[in-house]
Amino acid sequence: MAQRILVVDDSPINIKAVALALEAIGYEILEATDGRMALEVAAETLPDMLILDVQMPEFDGYEVCRRLRRQPAFMTRPILMLSANNALHERVQGLEAGADDYMAKPFEAEELQARVKALLRRANPPPVITATAQGKMVAFFSLRGGVGLSSLSVNLAAGLNQIWGGGKVALADMVFTGGHSALMLNLPLRTSWSDLASTEPDHIDEEVVQQVMLNHACGLRVLPAAPRPDQNERITPAQVSRVMQVLRAKYDYTIIDAPHNFNETTLAALDAVDQIVLVLAPEIGSIVATTCALDVFDQLGYRSDKITLLLNATFERGAIARKDIETALRRPLGMIIPYASEFFTNALNRGAPPVLDMPTKPLGGLLEEWAFSFSTEEDTKRPVERPSPALQRVLQRLQQRRKGRA
Ligand SMILES: Nc1ncnc2c1ncn2[C@@H]1O[C@H](COP(=O)(O)OP(=O)(O)O)[C@@H](O)[C@H]1O
Ligand SMILES: [Mg+2]
Repeated sequence: MAQRILVVDDSPINIKAVALALEAIGYEILEATDGRMALEVAAETLPDMLILDVQMPEFDGYEVCRRLRRQPAFMTRPILMLSANNALHERVQGLEAGADDYMAKPFEAEELQARVKALLRRANPPPVITATAQGKMVAFFSLRGGVGLSSLSVNLAAGLNQIWGGGKVALADMVFTGGHSALMLNLPLRTSWSDLASTEPDHIDEEVVQQVMLNHACGLRVLPAAPRPDQNERITPAQVSRVMQVLRAKYDYTIIDAPHNFNETTLAALDAVDQIVLVLAPEIGSIVATTCALDVFDQLGYRSDKITLLLNATFERGAIARKDIETALRRPLGMIIPYASEFFTNALNRGAPPVLDMPTKPLGGLLEEWAFSFSTEEDTKRPVERPSPALQRVLQRLQQRRKGRA
């Protein structure tokens, strides 16, 4: 059953705007147009969450919030205040009245959606999944499209595979609106996530998952998304969680190409991983999207060391300077991938990622070293009898650089 959200506002237009944004992602909206009515509807319907306007006839939003918080049924239900006034003291007053979050009007639908989802999930956290085996899981994420998630995740997965040997690395393409991982690796798309949609989560085991994965000649295993959105839409968060568990148990490394949204299936994957690489391009839209994603991660209770920022220079001219980006985000950029349009586009068109196709060229070498930096301590500390050519190259380059510095 859809979760119900009571929206309280004296302006029907505002109610409509909120309802449009939230109904679009599956919530049911209840309405009240003043404070007194809000308390009545809330008591009658026990909504899962409330969104309160501040200025209203009868009692204002703060008063509604205070009165609700005194009732046992509403002590922990999420309350979001939505106000035309974004002054600091108003925010503080809202939070003091017992609101969980505060947003200014006018709002971006995407931000409202993300915040509502985060608040509802914090109120009803998903069950903790205890991993049995210790594979490492990394997801690439951005709310903005075209920043290079697919390019980077394919190169990381293929790079780790070259370094540590075939059969240990999986790439899971979660772009359910239409994934491109198979295309990027020139793999015929025989099976995909969509083949798991009719299997009960409890029945998804290693064998079932292996059957729908594709084998790349280099040894990399790929769980692709079907090319059309309608083919993937029946996949549930419970199925995603289960697949994540199976992949972690089977592979030393699982790399996830995440979609540019906070859908429940995306969250099931982000919850499961050890590291989220939050990717941005050096332009303002990307910086805004990154701020929003960081905010949501914070609300979801993700530890800040779970998130790494990566700057991918997807365009050549007019980039915002690194230090300005770091100042805006109040965080250091953990990694930087240089502009290399010709190689990335060429790789995409040919289905051959640079890390596989040209490992001895500068970009391939850079990506190889970058992939190596994701290695587990277990791998880097273990003596390797016969190191792969990729590992030999990486170690040689690191050694040369160390010598150069000495
Ligand atoms: N470092 C880079 N330099 C130049 N172009 C890049 C770089 N990284 C990615 N691209 C290009 O940007 C476009 C979007 O990349 P893609 O990986 O599909 O992004 P996303 O998965 O985030 O939508 C592609 O054409 C890709 O070749
Ligand atoms: Mg993509």
